[in-house]
Amino acid sequence: MSRIVIVSNRTPGKGPAAGGLAVALKKVLGEREGFWFGWSGKLTESPDAKPRFEDIDGLNIAQIDLSPDDHRAYYSGFSNSILWPSFHLRLDLATIESHWYEGYRRVNAQFAKALMPLLKPDDVIWVHDYHLIPLASELRSLGAKNRIGFYLHIPFPTADALYAIPHHGELMRDLSRYNLIGFQANRDVAAFTDFAEHQAPSTFGTRATEAVDFSKTEIAAFPIGSDPEAFARLSASPAAKKMIHRMRRALGEQALILGVDRLDYSKGLPQRVEAYEKLLANNQRFRRNVHLLQVAPPSRDTIKEYQETSDTLDAMCGRVMGRFAEPDWAPLTYVKRAYGQPSLAGLYRLARVALVTPLRDGMNLVAHEYIGAQNPENPGVLVLSRFAGAAEIFPEALLVNPFDTDETAEALRMALDMSLEERRDRWQALDAAARAHNVDDWALSFLERLSPGIGEAGSGARDVIYMASVA
Ligand code: G6P
Repeated sequence: MSRIVIVSNRTPGKGPAAGGLAVALKKVLGEREGFWFGWSGKLTESPDAKPRFEDIDGLNIAQIDLSPDDHRAYYSGFSNSILWPSFHLRLDLATIESHWYEGYRRVNAQFAKALMPLLKPDDVIWVHDYHLIPLASELRSLGAKNRIGFYLHIPFPTADALYAIPHHGELMRDLSRYNLIGFQANRDVAAFTDFAEHQAPSTFGTRATEAVDFSKTEIAAFPIGSDPEAFARLSASPAAKKMIHRMRRALGEQALILGVDRLDYSKGLPQRVEAYEKLLANNQRFRRNVHLLQVAPPSRDTIKEYQETSDTLDAMCGRVMGRFAEPDWAPLTYVKRAYGQPSLAGLYRLARVALVTPLRDGMNLVAHEYIGAQNPENPGVLVLSRFAGAAEIFPEALLVNPFDTDETAEALRMALDMSLEERRDRWQALDAAARAHNVDDWALSFLERLSPGIGEAGSGARDVIYMASVA
């Protein structure tokens, strides 16, 4: 039976926000032969080329260290200052330093060199996310003939944004070295296919981009999900109940509006606070009767654009407080730290409205988790961005354009005024969709497409609960 080798930048148990990625795949590996390969989270001047194996939470994990310079160029530089903003259509927030590309390739080559000796000929390799686009090319150049799949957790950009990325032609060629490329949404498949079919000359230099042959690469959408049943159970756990109790004491009869996001400019946090401000400005009756809680754990905070987003949000929250707060009432609470899944499940359960309004997002698992944690007898309302991949599978949410803060404010009003009957109807449809797109099926359908027959290997261990944190 083939083993499964998962490769990602972060490995489970490392770092604050390994997120949906770690969660989803822990379960797959818990049930099959194989191991997870990635960065150890450690930086050292002369990293050992040989990976260290470690057992983390019963998982077999192989890790390598990186040098500080390589990591800066690969992670903060090319991955998160060029690819991340461009793929999220925020070219205004991209910083282009051409030497970062070399660091990005160096780290991908280092990953390949360390991984190659660990591979067996029939291992099936599943590579995750934009940090590792060149990994298949690097492995193939070392002789790997294995089936290799790639899954992009973030949106695929439009052609214009892709052209703005240095070496985009090489990156497309790298993608063609995979046997299967999975995207979150049909929107991403369409953008990718559009680019692959109409490759224009490179914007850099005079040479036209060589045509890239994708005839051996399968492309499909595999929308990721969460584990809604586990979230339902978790929302009744002692830790969740404790959180609910704490919040009820603080809130009294006020309706809770909840946002949970990494502190990232793609999440549309300033626009969200502005929409809330408009709700309070336009509807006096909600003052003292609602409360916005925004949970936003800091993320990638060595990057200037992230620091600026954090500063903007501080100022916006301060403005709303100054405008509407009274000595005995605060309109919002803004918490810059991460919470464990049980506490989050309690917050989800209590929240009358979840505000999930990214400007652009691969999927957004907070939407899935919120649905999973609702009380079926008295569910809350999901206000969801049209530009999250989740909008394709949750049409019964209140879908909004997050750039239009009037529209979001109006959706908030509708959510707060919605009858119990309508809330139940909408939630039942959302819950059915969340269950139909659960994380187990997601992983199995990708693996099954990459290597037919491999999905049947799973056994037992289904009672182990792993869930996403803020993605
Ligand atoms: C997104 C990406 C993941 C990443 C996560 C946290 O969900 O798709 O690949 O791990 O954000 O970001 P970080 O930079 O902290 O790993």
